[in-house]
Amino acid sequence: MADFDPVTKAVVPAAGLGTRFLPATKATPKEMLPIVDKPAIQYVVEEAASAGLLDVLMVTGKNKRSIEDHFDRAFELEEVLEAKGDEHRLSQVREPASLATLHYVRQGEPKGLGHAVLCAKQHVGDHPFACLLGDDLIDYRDELLKRMIEVRGAYGGSVIALMEVPEEQVSLYGVATIQATDEDDVVRVTDLVEKPPVAEAPSNWAIIGRYVIDPAVFEVLENTPPGRGGEIQLTDALRTLAGRSTAEGGPVHGVLFRGRRYDTGDKLDYLRTVVKFAADRPDLAPEFVPWLREFLREIG
Ligand code: G1P
Repeated sequence: MADFDPVTKAVVPAAGLGTRFLPATKATPKEMLPIVDKPAIQYVVEEAASAGLLDVLMVTGKNKRSIEDHFDRAFELEEVLEAKGDEHRLSQVREPASLATLHYVRQGEPKGLGHAVLCAKQHVGDHPFACLLGDDLIDYRDELLKRMIEVRGAYGGSVIALMEVPEEQVSLYGVATIQATDEDDVVRVTDLVEKPPVAEAPSNWAIIGRYVIDPAVFEVLENTPPGRGGEIQLTDALRTLAGRSTAEGGPVHGVLFRGRRYDTGDKLDYLRTVVKFAADRPDLAPEFVPWLREFLREIG
């Protein structure tokens, strides 16, 4: 196996305005909306930590203080719970601060995902890093990131996660042109396009929000003009890297993911995610699932 620099840091862009969830996101970041009883962003940090990434940089913006508070200690609350002897809640309150070392950088202007990643340049330095988008929750038990890090270790360059989506949905994603490799779940990415119209999509392999990225991306992003939506697109920078040799920070491979992904990007997806998570929770499912069945019967 080639000897590539190990991946130890994760970057989590969390600067979006959350306009699709207004008014809930007027004063609360969308990353803090609960999926059952944990904010969405905590699942993302748990996933990074379970892949061994214990240094997590959040790229935040205005209104994101509660994210920092969530991953910090809460001494007053802890004292109250301690006095009550409520060990269970105490450990739940302490858990976020113990998952990983969190760092924060602010993205001054909302200039797109590529720009958010560029804000991580100083913290990440000249090492490969993982990038996790909070709108996509991936079941950590499916070990997608671990596999992506392995693939980076074998091939160098960058690695994206790809999932097959129905044709009518391709325009919501970055879409890849791919070539098979000797490994069933690994492809070479030869081209990428951000949110193409259905008729122009090269495939229905969509980029889902997990990346392992070569640090060469920073220099590429600095020279990437605004793309789709007038924003600096990470997909465009990865497209440039896909055409490069290993010595220049390329190539790009894709891991084909067939596991559990939950989209929380809009209201309907969010509702589906909450219901699925609740149905998967041993403490809630025994009451929740029969109720849900009954409710569905009632509304016909
Ligand atoms: C971003 C990326 C897109 C990717 C998607 C995955 O888009 O730009 O390439 O397919 O995340 O969720 P967004 O959904 O933030 O608009």
